[in-house]
Amino acid sequence: MQVIAEIASVRDQILQWRHEGQRIAFVPTMGHLHDGHLALIKKALENANVVVVSIFVNPMQFNNPDDLAAYPRTIDEDISKLNMEGVAVVFTPSIDIMYPQGIDNHVFVSVPSLSNILEGASRPNHFNGVATIISKLFNIIQPDVALFGEKDFQQLAVINKMVFDLALPISIIGVQTVREMDGLAISSRNSRLTVDERQRAPVLAKTLRWISSQMRSGRNNYSELVLDGNDQLRAAGLEPDAIFIRDAITLQPVTDQTTKAVILASTILGQVRLIDNLIVEYTIPMTDDKKE
Ligand code: PAF
Repeated sequence: MQVIAEIASVRDQILQWRHEGQRIAFVPTMGHLHDGHLALIKKALENANVVVVSIFVNPMQFNNPDDLAAYPRTIDEDISKLNMEGVAVVFTPSIDIMYPQGIDNHVFVSVPSLSNILEGASRPNHFNGVATIISKLFNIIQPDVALFGEKDFQQLAVINKMVFDLALPISIIGVQTVREMDGLAISSRNSRLTVDERQRAPVLAKTLRWISSQMRSGRNNYSELVLDGNDQLRAAGLEPDAIFIRDAITLQPVTDQTTKAVILASTILGQVRLIDNLIVEYTIPMTDDKKE
């Protein structure tokens, strides 16, 4: 496995693979790799001959400088993990390489309809930072296929729309959230939970499953359903942050055109904000009270 920091060097390698007719898969990450990332790499290997992983903690997508400073950087451990996964190249650019004239001077890419709602409403510019760095990485790596976790559902929706609107010749594969045995979605944030918080955390996933079963069995007053979901979280000692039931493609409230909905939920547990989501495929007739 090669570890490459320079754009020109990674391009040389990509060019060589292109001449050989190799199919290239790309998994962008910010490092601190866990089983969720390894699932993306496994899926990447099923979809291509060579896999490139990037590790870059992207300052443009952080609103809060403290969060950026506190973000765990575990590059040596990450590289040894990747060494065992069949990855061909790890691209590890520095901030100067990615933003040579500074972040504020850099072009940015925005997907306006999806970036300022839901998570984006409380994290101004976060999704612009994601769309910008991903389009730049796509231009550098020029993969055939790129893989993203469904855990960050809004991020995946933003990338899908960016690729569609800009007609980028890249297939995007969303990979199902990897869960612990008790249902908790795997996230680097889980390691910051106390023992007691960790025991309560699976209630978030359980609440999503409950809301989904209520929807599928025909319950259609979504605002009440959201309130009931919040009550379930509270009863288990989790502070509800937000629950939304949305069209899985547009992320707007469900309409009678919706064939696939998503329940997006976040909760505060001690010092940690956990997010999770669940897709609900259903064909229940639409009524007015479905609107949130
Ligand atoms: O999900 C992440 O780790 C990041 O948002 C991503 C997609 C690598 C962009 O920096």
